Amino acid sequence: VKKILFFSDFGIDDNIAVLYAFFNKEIELVGVVADYGNVSKQDAMRNAAYIQELTGRKDVPAFAGAELPLTGDPPAYVPDVHGIEGLGPIIPDIEVDYTLENFHGIQEIIEKNPGEINIVNVGRLSSLAAAFILYPETMKKVKGFYIMGGAFNEPGNVTPVAEANFYGDPYAANILLTQAKTPVKIIPLNVTSGAIVTPALINELDEYYHSIGSEVGKLVKPMFDYYYKFYKERNPELTGAPLHDVLTLWALVHEDHVVYRDIPVKVVVNIGEAFGQSIGDFRSYIDKAVYPVHQVAVNFNYAEFIKDFYKTMKNSQ
Ligand code: BDR
Ligand code: CA
Repeated sequence: VKKILFFSDFGIDDNIAVLYAFFNKEIELVGVVADYGNVSKQDAMRNAAYIQELTGRKDVPAFAGAELPLTGDPPAYVPDVHGIEGLGPIIPDIEVDYTLENFHGIQEIIEKNPGEINIVNVGRLSSLAAAFILYPETMKKVKGFYIMGGAFNEPGNVTPVAEANFYGDPYAANILLTQAKTPVKIIPLNVTSGAIVTPALINELDEYYHSIGSEVGKLVKPMFDYYYKFYKERNPELTGAPLHDVLTLWALVHEDHVVYRDIPVKVVVNIGEAFGQSIGDFRSYIDKAVYPVHQVAVNFNYAEFIKDFYKTMKNSQ
């Protein structure tokens, strides 16, 4: 069983990833960090609480993460993709303590489990960068880092060259890439875009949830349909929608089904058209890396992903 501390901006694919983590017997979620990104930090905290209430998983501690990027720019949320509250059409009515300042709790978790905690980050890297600044010694005790971010040798989704999680705070991304003591596993957009889940599969899950009276039946299909509509309008050829953040978690529990390459990586912070671009030095003849070397995913076994996703998501009670 893998112990995971999950940093997320609680948009739609993030929320499905949290459900996947709750339902997966190979995952022990030791905490979630809710930060700004797809939605505001407050909405992210509220979504975390809402999902915990629906699933009865209030035992998992939720931590308040970053509310701003290190760029100094105001955060840009993405309601078109994720809905005004990050839940598609759903507007939950739930009380949350937004004054909570409990981020230091993550230090305690890592210190209590030295060498055992995997950090999975599927939003901006701002909270994780803060952890490296606040707790540099503690962060050396993290087992591994799995990051959804960047786009290598293919288009971005915010600019022609930049992906949302890196573009939103490239300074933070570089703090991770330069400070991590173990190579970071990066699951980039060009790979996660292949993690397509079809509406037919979601409909099957939805029928199942309703047949057993599972509370998550309220959530999965309405969120997915909203998200799929956005992707389909953008690219009518798509037969489903990519669950970027689910793939990133799946990669951690299915190491054998993901192909990585050791690649020097940095993120562009110079103001200009390449801002937020992830540069990977894929040149085979370079023997001395200028940038820190990380493990960049280049491929995964799609059939295994879908099989596992369906099986795990049925495990809702
Ligand atoms: C990433 O941006 C967000 O829209 C998704 O949640 C994912 O983490 C993809 O670029
Ligand atoms: Ca995300």
